[in-house]
Amino acid sequence: EVIRLGHIVLELADFQETCAWYAQHFGFIPSDVQVLPDGSPVVAFMRLDLGDKPADHHTLALAQGFLPTYSHSAYEVVDADAVGMGQRVLREKGWTHAWGIGRHILGSQIFDYWQDPWGDKHEHYCDGDLFTADAPTGVHAVSREAMAQWGPTMPRSFTKPRFTPTSIVALFRNLRRSPDLTL
Ligand SMILES: [Fe+2]
Repeated sequence: EVIRLGHIVLELADFQETCAWYAQHFGFIPSDVQVLPDGSPVVAFMRLDLGDKPADHHTLALAQGFLPTYSHSAYEVVDADAVGMGQRVLREKGWTHAWGIGRHILGSQIFDYWQDPWGDKHEHYCDGDLFTADAPTGVHAVSREAMAQWGPTMPRSFTKPRFTPTSIVALFRNLRRSPDLTL
């Protein structure tokens, strides 16, 4: 049983400008930022500013991509048993599994990801960390290994872009246009 929609994750060509826009207009606070070896930010986990009331580690996460993509929606369930039961139910219904079960490092949610027929993903999760508004932003190196403290390593297919003639044209347009992208 799903309790609620907990967060969504978007991939963007204009990553830095979009992060700034959400922070400025909605008051999102970056809980953790993942960076490339040269220090460029590539993933931002953004939480709501609820003052002294603890908020989810992220309600919105933004990631650098070559194209704007809806990565996934995440639905909170009550506990790890419910994550496991969800896996059995979805498997028996014939859905395609994407990644899990494991526990994230940043946010520490127990997660299980499923693929929908259109290329987007859906996550069941529980036991995520909560932060008040005054918690400082963490900065961490990005890698597939840094995505889970236990469970399978994130498969390469998990973040692989879909290459179609339209997306390749958009990729080259974004490479020329977006200040965040280089070959
Ligand atoms: Fe997620």
